[in-house]
Amino acid sequence: MKKSTQCVHSGTYIDKETRGVNTPVFTSSSFEYLDMPHNVYPRYFNTPNQRVVINKLCALENAEDGLIFSSGMAAISTVLFTFLGSGDHAVLQKDIYGGTHHFVTADFERFGIDYTFVSNDTEAIERAIKENTRLIFIESPSNPLLRITDIRAVAETAKTKNIITAIDNTFATPINQNPLDLGMDIVIHSGTKYLGGHSDICCGAVVSTKAFIGKIRGSATNFGGCLDASACSLLERSIKTLGIRVEKQCGNAQYIAESLWDNPAVKKVYYPGLESHQGHDTAKSQMRGFGAIVSFELDERKIAPSEFIRKLRLITPAVSLGGVESLICSPAATSHEKLTGEERAEMGITDGLFRLSVGIEDSADLLSDIEQALKKASV
Ligand SMILES: Cc1ncc(COP(=O)(O)O)c(C=O)c1O
Repeated sequence: MKKSTQCVHSGTYIDKETRGVNTPVFTSSSFEYLDMPHNVYPRYFNTPNQRVVINKLCALENAEDGLIFSSGMAAISTVLFTFLGSGDHAVLQKDIYGGTHHFVTADFERFGIDYTFVSNDTEAIERAIKENTRLIFIESPSNPLLRITDIRAVAETAKTKNIITAIDNTFATPINQNPLDLGMDIVIHSGTKYLGGHSDICCGAVVSTKAFIGKIRGSATNFGGCLDASACSLLERSIKTLGIRVEKQCGNAQYIAESLWDNPAVKKVYYPGLESHQGHDTAKSQMRGFGAIVSFELDERKIAPSEFIRKLRLITPAVSLGGVESLICSPAATSHEKLTGEERAEMGITDGLFRLSVGIEDSADLLSDIEQALKKASV
């Protein structure tokens, strides 16, 4: 089946008695165990509504198995702490989601885990590998500068050295990119973003082979970051429209990126769908669409960034991304605020940088909102 068909149909549980076309919500947190093949319990990540969402996501990501979590960070921290322990070393891409970066810098050392942050360049990743490197973690496109990592090349390098690879596929979505097909071992999503798609649930997911998921499930059960049945049901409903949402969002994003590129008040535009983007060719070779996040840097000699964001009328200044409504944020003040000024500068995150999560609205309305705000914020 093609992606949009999988979105609608894969995984659905049809109740044999009523033949309702949607999966019922199984509210039980307790299940009889006599004569059953295994114990069912929410924190064992195996309730009916959890399984349905996972089966849908496995179909979309071409994965054997998966786990659904209560947040993207629950998924990320569980994966990292499953495979890394005292004496191990991890190589991580530098420009990853700020929360993941903060988790590593705040918590790895006290558990005796060594780490190296590197650029997304394959050679830099290879150079950072040590004797005790157990895991490589990447994000592509990355947050917030949409850098594109050559996923095939990283996976190949890691395989020759027997190192586990994990990727945060949140920005791409399974509609645009399937990293397992490119050789990665583990794919992670913050489901709070595109999978949920309506800015009303917090969840995360991990998909991989049965063997890897078996290991992660052990830690996940201990760490306890499971998702309840109602949220799973909302997530299942949301993923049914993932295909059409993402397609519309990508079209809008391309239009806005091209328009901003031509605007003299805008210094830089970061969007993998632009031919000028440093990772455009790699993106074309590993993605079916370029995603719906557009980051841009205002020319502060022409525009006051703090005024610009206040003057927007349609696009909402808010954290998070991936919903049907367009949201904008200043990474320096939100997702990357915990980094030092020096770390931000090194990553190219300036005060004039904005990350726009493009929604499904009419693209002309979005552009005219940006243009009127630029006019009002002109210095
Ligand atoms: C790329 C990416 N990964 C992971 C996360 C963390 O997800 P959550 O907020 O669901 O824990 C985020 C959140 O913004 C994100 O943007």
